[in-house]
Amino acid sequence: MGAVGRFPTRREVYVSRLQAEHLYKVFGRRSDEAVRRLEGGATRDELRADGATAAVIDASFTVDPGQIFVVMGLSGSGKSTLLRMLNGLLEPTAGRVLFDGRDLTALNRRELRSVRSRRISMVFPHFALFPHRSVSENAAYGLEVQGVDRAERAERAREALALAGLAGWEDSWPDELSGGMQQRVGLARALATDADLLLMDESFSALDPLIRRDMQDQLLELQKTLKKTIVFITHDLNEAMRLGDRIAVMRDGRIVQQGTAEDILVTPANDYVASFTQDVDRTRVLTAGAIMADPETAYGTRTDGGAELRSAGEVLAAAPAVVTADTPIAELFTPCSRSGVAVAVTCERGELIGVVPRARLLAVLGEPMKPERAPEPDGADGPGGPDGADGPDGSDGPDGPDGVADRAGTAASGAVAHA
Ligand SMILES: Nc1ncnc2c1ncn2[C@@H]1O[C@H](COP(=O)(O)OP(=O)(O)O)[C@@H](O)[C@H]1O
Ligand SMILES: [Mg+2]
Repeated sequence: MGAVGRFPTRREVYVSRLQAEHLYKVFGRRSDEAVRRLEGGATRDELRADGATAAVIDASFTVDPGQIFVVMGLSGSGKSTLLRMLNGLLEPTAGRVLFDGRDLTALNRRELRSVRSRRISMVFPHFALFPHRSVSENAAYGLEVQGVDRAERAERAREALALAGLAGWEDSWPDELSGGMQQRVGLARALATDADLLLMDESFSALDPLIRRDMQDQLLELQKTLKKTIVFITHDLNEAMRLGDRIAVMRDGRIVQQGTAEDILVTPANDYVASFTQDVDRTRVLTAGAIMADPETAYGTRTDGGAELRSAGEVLAAAPAVVTADTPIAELFTPCSRSGVAVAVTCERGELIGVVPRARLLAVLGEPMKPERAPEPDGADGPGGPDGADGPDGSDGPDGPDGVADRAGTAASGAVAHA
């Protein structure tokens, strides 16, 4: 990882914010009227009867610079259509896309083409390499298209390949690499361009599970250094949870919830989202920071020897483990089984920012907690019960995309620790 330090100096200037404001895309007849009906609460099915397809309905979100924003949903929920509006490939029927505060939908063709070719990069599902170009030339291809000169291309390709764990392979041919390594070259190519916004549509979905995991790791590793603004589409909840700083869940054209992986797991917005999450290994996704209580809750409790804890210092000294907020709760079970004192959570400076008492650890292993931070405004009874049997409809609930099938893979990931 010797080259790691070099990219940020070049990149700092350019990291972008992306905003979608009330985006709609309706295919078919009388689309403007369809938008008005949707604004009034009409559903996709109602419009379909009139020959219009509401692919995306009232999508609003912000992707902060350097974030990975994941859009998750079953096939047909509108993900690809949403993505194509973000880079201007499709014109929204209503709403705006802002890129660093500039309205993409208001640019003329020439301006749009320029933004699209230089600032935004669309990554397609297959990282097909050119067989007659070296690994280095393949990795530099995006830069070549952008008109970067040869010497700089080679240098930046070398750096990107090193970050992707492929140092030393620059002069090899693609067919000398394993399938997984070829995929990594493709990822390095996508990330080595000057584009600061990356749009990835099911980029890893066709890969076999082991290579897919490797690519997820590589993306997270590259992202630590490159800090692109990324919108990543997937129909796999586990992939969403591993990669996403924030996740939007789509259903039938609408974003039904957005938040962190923890938000979605702990306080699903409705039964539909809850039914998606019930098979996720919470101990790997939830972190100490997501479930910790205020430090003061440990004051007045006693050490195993019976001494009362009265200060942060005493809590820290007595805790069976001191962890950071991004520690997966899977790592808290052993310490909690050894002692009745709460595990201490500290910030980077070592100050106590929270505690995880044993009871709280056990409580979050149950199904979704009632929202604590933001009570439901309508006083509804919160997320569904643990059995999720009363889902909104039996017909098209999560049909077990690979999300469910390859869950075992994710369980070992130590995921979502938002680096
Ligand atoms: N060009 C198009 N014309 C008509 N309908 C479309 C078009 N593109 C997508 N759709 C419809 O919009 C809906 C959302 O599609 P899509 O965005 O591809 O979903 P996803 O990527 O989540 O699978 C689907 O019902 C699809 O059939
Ligand atoms: Mg799609």
